[in-house]
Amino acid sequence: MDWGIKNRLSKLFKSDGHCFFLPVDHGYFQGPTSCLEKPAKTIKPLLPYCDALFCTRGVLRSCIDAAMDTPVILRVSGGTSMVGSDLANEAVTTCLEEIIRLNVSAVGVSVFVGSDYEKQTLLNLSNLVNECERYGIPVMAVTAVGKETEKRTSRYLALSCRIAAELGARVVKTYWCAKDFDKVVEGCPVPVVMAGGPKCETELEVLEFVHDGMQKGAVGINLGRNVWQNPNPVAVAKALHAIIHEKASVKEAHDIFKETKK
Ligand code: 5RP
Repeated sequence: MDWGIKNRLSKLFKSDGHCFFLPVDHGYFQGPTSCLEKPAKTIKPLLPYCDALFCTRGVLRSCIDAAMDTPVILRVSGGTSMVGSDLANEAVTTCLEEIIRLNVSAVGVSVFVGSDYEKQTLLNLSNLVNECERYGIPVMAVTAVGKETEKRTSRYLALSCRIAAELGARVVKTYWCAKDFDKVVEGCPVPVVMAGGPKCETELEVLEFVHDGMQKGAVGINLGRNVWQNPNPVAVAKALHAIIHEKASVKEAHDIFKETKK
């Protein structure tokens, strides 16, 4: 691995090999998502706890201070919306020159395995890897399911993650699943990061699934709504940070949440 890509990856993953990515890219297909209407306001208090921000170029330019130290993972796929006919029908939205100009640490692209747009989205990933690797920029694949959340079984997720890694993703973001998540991680030769999905009923549920996923081999999280849609986002972020980087148990993390909430 050349110095440039190693350097970028070392910004995203801390010395323990773990990561806490904060996604705020939801507007690219959901519009002004609840609690993310003003991205700058949502992001600011959470920055001390996260290792990278996942966002589009629009939010980066208009809402984020260029002097910020936190590395950026740029969302570079899109072209669909919640009200359109198929969320899987994505293209790559951002050219290589723009990716370099924005000085990001990685890019993120969704793949929709098993959808009508499987080949198109897998080629989006492959082509992006071909271009970005020439300049030492890692590509993170997002194994997306669109509105079909019932697809999130270990068998399906293992298939999607492995395909994404085979096509050259340096990191794969996927969903945690209650049964056999370890098989998803074991079948993927590159680091696996857990996505969150719609907000859970309680923060305890979030802490439990993140802790379980870490025990089963995930290297970290890319969690958005379960952090910033919580009425106490900083408390959740602090508790998650403790699980990811301080080996906290669920109880210890929950105590941190309760203490911070006060
Ligand atoms: C959308 C994404 C988002 O980054 C992803 O949904 C993570 O955010 P959340 O934890 O809110 O699900 O990649 O496809």
